[in-house]
Amino acid sequence: MHVNSSPGRARNLRISGLAVAILVASGAVALTVSPPFTAIGEAATAETLRAAAAQADLFFGVAASPARLSSIVGREFGQLTAENDMKPATIAGPGGTVQNTGNADTLVNYAQTNNMTVRGHTMVWYSQAGSLSGASQSTLNTYIQNVLLKWGNKISHWDVVNEALDDNNTGQRRNQWPHTLDRDANGDGDYFDPSDTDYIRDSFRQARQVVEQSGLTTKLCINDYDIEGLTVKGGARNKKSDAMYDIVKMYSQEPYKYIDCVGLQSHFNDNPNSIITDDLQANIQRFADLGVEVQLTELDIDDDLSNNDIGQGQADNYRKVVRACLNVAKCTGITVWGISDSESWRASERGLLFTGSNGSYQKKAAYSAVLDELNKGRQTTPGSSGPPSNSSSPPSSPSTSSSSPSTSSSSPSDPTAGCSAGVTLNSWNGGFVATVRVTAGAEPIDGWSVSLTLPAGATVTSAWNANQSATSGTVHFTNVSYNGRVDAGQSTEFGFQGTGTGTGMTPTCTAA
Ligand code: XIL
Repeated sequence: MHVNSSPGRARNLRISGLAVAILVASGAVALTVSPPFTAIGEAATAETLRAAAAQADLFFGVAASPARLSSIVGREFGQLTAENDMKPATIAGPGGTVQNTGNADTLVNYAQTNNMTVRGHTMVWYSQAGSLSGASQSTLNTYIQNVLLKWGNKISHWDVVNEALDDNNTGQRRNQWPHTLDRDANGDGDYFDPSDTDYIRDSFRQARQVVEQSGLTTKLCINDYDIEGLTVKGGARNKKSDAMYDIVKMYSQEPYKYIDCVGLQSHFNDNPNSIITDDLQANIQRFADLGVEVQLTELDIDDDLSNNDIGQGQADNYRKVVRACLNVAKCTGITVWGISDSESWRASERGLLFTGSNGSYQKKAAYSAVLDELNKGRQTTPGSSGPPSNSSSPPSSPSTSSSSPSTSSSSPSDPTAGCSAGVTLNSWNGGFVATVRVTAGAEPIDGWSVSLTLPAGATVTSAWNANQSATSGTVHFTNVSYNGRVDAGQSTEFGFQGTGTGTGMTPTCTAA
């Protein structure tokens, strides 16, 4: 992974008081520990967001414009997104040309000087589309090529497609341009058949081709909001997230392999589809299990979600979100959508990490919470194939829990048949999400089947990363095409959502 900003992993800085006294008394050494690190415990504690994030192998970034490039940006953030200056409304010229890039260049240059990565935001979007609005796929393709080549590898991640999906949890695509370029040839309700046209597929295909032909390392992402949780307020399924999952699954796997990353915008507020749910981590994990990177790309947290408290209440919400990302190895970065509350696109929500303006900023409680959480590091090993570092505790427990929904887990069953399985449960009144971790024994396995018996009255409403044999009683889950192979001692995860209660399920795993 590309992390520019790490000042180095200063481990093992623990020196006992006695040792220091001896060293100092003997005049043998002058011990200085200066920012951004101070020594506590085994690992150094970083004193900036970017340094703390880099130690945990992720980036922590910010959206900005040239007017906001005060010194805090390079100091606190390791990644930069142009809040508006790379949108087609600003830089798209006639026929897919790129123009007027002065502000965008300023941002890219600032990032380079300050050793930050840049997210390109965004190419194909119904809003702020400027002269691309209503364009044909061929004009979009010209634009995609021009804009990718304009900055090349100076951009680590590009949002190729933004906000393709409809509001209000319909699970549908939007119906305005560029969706008018979609054609469902056989009328089966999707755009995934070979004879269908799909501007998402076609735009990513073009971007992939340019990246490959030009030898770029830029990652190609799809980005949207209200896709953060598996469920929405009240526990209903998040259909928008499921629709995004289907798109990413289709176009990140063979034969396409177009999509590298998915951005969960993470504008959290009290809209029923925009709250912070306890299954945030499980949802990040299911995208990660497709093999793509996940980033929280536009994070802000409305103070309405903490009863207008921008102190500890909001800080706890930030902790929860940052922890969910940290606990998934392929969650590779978090970007906040602005520096300070008063300069935010949604100033009234007071949803960011600083107050103040014009380069004079004060840290909020949320800032300290994020820094602290980043400093605790990840609590998982790389990839969905790694077991949690402490397998006796659930991988998903947020450090601040709102007690309902509750989280519980059972230990893996005995790995006699080549694999074992353990279940982690996120429950609420009337429903649950189960995350099942399948771990291979001493030998690699080429397929698996997990059986478990649901408690009476419980029903499976959907499953991901597995095929499912039934919806109640004893259910067999088998691997899908891309997760049957598990190396010795490694793990993969699948999940399902159910109604009723899920407590007391004991999975057994059989290797194929
Ligand atoms: C917003 C900017 O923050 C505002 O300044 C602008 O007026 C409108 O766009 N989703 C996105 C971002 O992908 O591009 C949006 O940014 C916020 C929602």
